[in-house]
Amino acid sequence: MAETALQFLLDNLQKLLAEQIRLIAGAEDELEEMNKELELMQSFLRDSARRRLKGELFKALEKQIREAVYEAEDTIDACVSHAAAAARTAHRYCMPPLLLFTFTPKRLSLAKQVRSIRIHKIKPVFDEAKIKFATLPIVDEAPPEKDAVDKFRRVSLSQEKRIVGLDDEADKIIKHLNEQHSEEFEVISIIGMPGLGKTTTAFKIYRDSRIRNKFPTVIWVYVSQDFKNKDIFLTILKQFTQEYMSGMSEEELCQQVKQHLSSAGKFLIIMDDVWTVDAWNQIEAALPKSNKLGKVLITSCFENVVRRANRKREPHRLRFLSREESWELLQVEVFGDMDRCPSELEPTGRLIAERCCGLPLQIVVIGGILLNKLSSISNTKNEWENVSDRLGTYVNDEEQKRVERIILLSYDELPYDLRDCFLYLGMYPEDFEITAWRLIRMWIAEGFITRKPGGKSLEEIGNEKLEDLIRRNLVMVNKGKLGGGVKTCRLHDVIREFCKNHAAFQNQNLFEEIRMFRDGEFEPQVSEIQNLRRLCIQPPNECFFRQRPKGRKLRTFCFFNRENLFCKVNEDGFRGFIKTSNMLRVIDAELITIEKSPTEIYQLVHLRYIALAAPSGFKRISQSSGIYRLLYCADFL
Ligand SMILES: Nc1ncnc2c1ncn2[C@@H]1O[C@H](COP(=O)(O)OP(=O)(O)OP(=O)(O)O)[C@@H](O)[C@H]1O
Ligand SMILES: [Mg+2]
Repeated sequence: MAETALQFLLDNLQKLLAEQIRLIAGAEDELEEMNKELELMQSFLRDSARRRLKGELFKALEKQIREAVYEAEDTIDACVSHAAAAARTAHRYCMPPLLLFTFTPKRLSLAKQVRSIRIHKIKPVFDEAKIKFATLPIVDEAPPEKDAVDKFRRVSLSQEKRIVGLDDEADKIIKHLNEQHSEEFEVISIIGMPGLGKTTTAFKIYRDSRIRNKFPTVIWVYVSQDFKNKDIFLTILKQFTQEYMSGMSEEELCQQVKQHLSSAGKFLIIMDDVWTVDAWNQIEAALPKSNKLGKVLITSCFENVVRRANRKREPHRLRFLSREESWELLQVEVFGDMDRCPSELEPTGRLIAERCCGLPLQIVVIGGILLNKLSSISNTKNEWENVSDRLGTYVNDEEQKRVERIILLSYDELPYDLRDCFLYLGMYPEDFEITAWRLIRMWIAEGFITRKPGGKSLEEIGNEKLEDLIRRNLVMVNKGKLGGGVKTCRLHDVIREFCKNHAAFQNQNLFEEIRMFRDGEFEPQVSEIQNLRRLCIQPPNECFFRQRPKGRKLRTFCFFNRENLFCKVNEDGFRGFIKTSNMLRVIDAELITIEKSPTEIYQLVHLRYIALAAPSGFKRISQSSGIYRLLYCADFL
């Protein structure tokens, strides 16, 4: 993945040399040299990445290369920012920019700094890499990566995933929910380990006509770890009123929910993924005990939560899939339907299904791996046997570890340039509905997608990458487009956790998440963001900007929440943040509301993508002017 960073730096360097000669005058020769050296490093890395065993040493070398690349990038970006600021000053004082710029110490030092990085950073890292890579064992040379579309021609994307073997489970729960004479307001729970199919079962129930006929109001609420009471209450209230209620306090909203539900007659609320007893207690305060017609269905992984929610009724324990059902699901995932598996592959396929231990999440991820390996029967058989052997070594692991290892298996199969794209998805909040076109533009702005021969646009390549991840079952389709394709997508929480951990651990902080806890503390501390390159705030918080954050190295800043609720922030803090984070390339902060146009944004010379709900009058940044072509600016509603 150092390769992606390297490619991006090279693209930028070439653009700089071609288009911004004015800003780098005097340093062209050094930059040209650097360009040549980096190109060499890139082709070397590409070759080694394909042929060498990717163990710990490989990863350590990659880390070194990435750090050197980042350092070069920081130097060049800082100089370009400085040069652009100088040019603006020149413009303001009607001086020829070059004249003013000549006297800036930064410009004088660009050539020197580039030389220093070349000699002291890039060269030693490259020399060491050449020697150490040569000591790594050679593995079978992987065939050149095929186009995602070619590989997966057999199976089409479908938002409506086929559900295997949950009818009996759903029927039992629907029967309970339809029971007439409950003495009191009732809560029914589904419990089971992560990835067992609780959400899938609950969603099946949510859409079932027997439920729709019985309950005029059915509400789906996703709770999760990051839940906020306010958001849950607002989601419920949306069903009853159009009134704007975001400004109300939590207590007021709680009372509003209680009132509406008390008089709602028959209603069903499905609360997916209740994480703690404390979370349940807070939600319960808004439920009307007096309404004996209302019901709540919750799903959870935790026994203490479901026990607390209803002490009298046993929770419904979701079962694992049987052997036959597991094989059925695996076939659906690989071949699109049952009974399409060639008989030569069936014994291995059945063994693989069995080794997934009845857990649907494992089966669908393994299905994505097997699908990717379809070729001639004999090759496929070999590949499938390898997968089966790997799985055989996992069967004694405890379940959570096994799921992680299976996701890792799928991750290791990803083409190199898809890995950053995948891990990047961990930045989104849990259960976030990700808009496909925006994600793709962010990937492009981040430099994860590069043009390939063949004339496809970057957007087309991005789309193919997203579809590749979906067919591997690492990403789920949420909504499809009318004419085909993906409108929105989602990440399973277990996979999101993998992305977050892996991005931090293996990829040297591809991104960092700042969280605010209930006691008002940020983790990591706000002062630490000056060392980060990508940052997302979870959940978005108005206090963040009050602490005057400065992101001197920051390239990406994301501020989104699951419910798409706007967040008023400290304006001075926000402006100061933009001003001091002048390396920013990607800003996704559409939910921040501010009163005055943040003109500081015009000075971000590296900016490639922005989503901001700006006050009316905020100038739309031109879509056609050079590097700003990817900018997107939402109007304030
Ligand atoms: N019976 C099934 N048939 C087909 N696919 C299934 C089935 N059950 C689950 N899946 C798939 O397995 C994955 C995990 O399922 P789901 O999200 O429902 O699990 P969960 O129990 O809710 O997990 P978590 O506790 O992490 O929320 C999803 O991709 C889902 O589409
Ligand atoms: Mg779930």
